[in-house]
Amino acid sequence: MIKKVRKAVFPVGGLGTRFLPATKAMPKEMLPIVDRPLIQYAVDEAREAGIEEFIFVTGRGKVIIEDHFDRSYELESVLNERGKTDVLEELQNGLPKTGSVAYIRQQEPQGLGHAVWCAKRYIGNEPFAVILADDLILSEKPCLAQMMETREQMDGGNILAAMEVPHAHTSRYGIISPGYDDGKKVEVKALVEKPDPSKAPSNLAVIGRYILEPTVFNILENQARGAGNEIQLTDAMSDMLKSTSFYGLRFDGTRFDCGDKIGFLHANLAFALNRSDLSHEMEDIIRKMAADL
Ligand code: UTP
Repeated sequence: MIKKVRKAVFPVGGLGTRFLPATKAMPKEMLPIVDRPLIQYAVDEAREAGIEEFIFVTGRGKVIIEDHFDRSYELESVLNERGKTDVLEELQNGLPKTGSVAYIRQQEPQGLGHAVWCAKRYIGNEPFAVILADDLILSEKPCLAQMMETREQMDGGNILAAMEVPHAHTSRYGIISPGYDDGKKVEVKALVEKPDPSKAPSNLAVIGRYILEPTVFNILENQARGAGNEIQLTDAMSDMLKSTSFYGLRFDGTRFDCGDKIGFLHANLAFALNRSDLSHEMEDIIRKMAADL
């Protein structure tokens, strides 16, 4: 029997400099796609994949995320008085169960690897998921649920979400050096963080969903700073590859890089077009705008 993945880490300690000034006083993860913040999509995806405990690694100015996942009695009573029961229900359904959420301060944004390491005590000795809320995926089955299924088929182990990217963009991603590849699952032989296209072993990139064995914490503990002078999760996973296997999963769905302005705008359009209450009006608007170009 493989150990169930019950816990997910949400690193939300980054500075979000690409979205300044919007992210000066508000975390990037609270930017809305249509009418829900990015972090809500991430938590919903985790819940749909069977995650029971939610660990947020936060930083300065992120308390608004804690408020978002808390009851708001004042608002709830006003909605109740006004008979807005559908909105009220939606708000309440969006909340994780009492006692299932923990917040840890990263104190200094020293990189994604460092953010994950901060969750060590909350995770303990069990496999866990990591979700980067700014990598938003539009799919029928949530990406993390697809990865959980793959993990079960593989009898456990480390699973990464993977996607082909334009060769010229390899320097933006952790890139997989592929081994055995069945077109869907691919064995990870090596990982390189943000390689120059001329040095990239492939154009298969790691996207912000990971299922990891807890041994990663031992490696992160002593991890030297890597690309961008940050403690990189990719470097720690590279070290783990010496003793354990990793698989990349080419997930079904469309991924949007919402940490980037164009990706964020694209996601808003795609998610609006995917909503039955908005798609007709949005289509009209897009058609008219395109005709004027
Ligand atoms: P990014 O590379 O997008 O960095 O982080 P960033 O600081 O958030 O944004 P920019 O590049 O300045 O615009 C990827 C993910 O890792 C988290 C971020 O919150 C994001 O989800 N992260 C990054 C941390 O939690 N801590 C860190 O020290 C760095």
